[in-house]
Amino acid sequence: KRIVIFASGSGSNAENIISFFREKPQVEVAAVLTNKSSAKVLERCDRLGVPAFYFNKIAFKDSDTVVQFLEGIQTDLIVLAGFLWKIPSNLIQSFPDKIINIHPALLPKYGGKGMYGERVHQAVKENNETETGITIHYVNENYDEGAIIFQAKTKVIPSDDANSIAEKVHQLEYEHFPKVIEKLLS
Ligand code: GRF
Repeated sequence: KRIVIFASGSGSNAENIISFFREKPQVEVAAVLTNKSSAKVLERCDRLGVPAFYFNKIAFKDSDTVVQFLEGIQTDLIVLAGFLWKIPSNLIQSFPDKIINIHPALLPKYGGKGMYGERVHQAVKENNETETGITIHYVNENYDEGAIIFQAKTKVIPSDDANSIAEKVHQLEYEHFPKVIEKLLS
């Protein structure tokens, strides 16, 4: 089975997924796509020996460029890991129930356009939440609204700040995301 990861930033989840499947013969990360030519995920892929491709807005907006690329490399599952653009509907139509995303909060709370990274954890802190977590879900035409596949929770204590919350959430991502992907592909 061939996974393609979309990432816009650091790519720590992408690296974690690549490493996890490195020793599993049935599944491989065939490529990583990014919309940021400076994304740190590109350096990670160089080090890990994984093909990585930069697609600018024109390419993503163009009707079939990305679809043809993904079909061309026999993609079985598209994994969004910190990808900040909305997925074009023709891509969703071409890969029905084959695009998943991870969101660093317990959707439907703290989701939607513009809610990513620090902002999510800051909002959780400001609302005095006693727990937060991760949501892995199918991707549809709207940000963070597809069917939920998996959620995991962690406690939030008054002394937590956005950074300490982010750290707890990243640990949940690293622990669960590869295993959820493995189950989906089995
Ligand atoms: C993660 O927190 C993920 O939940 C969110 O974006 C972040 C990506 O981090 N979608 P990284 O680029 O994998 O380090």
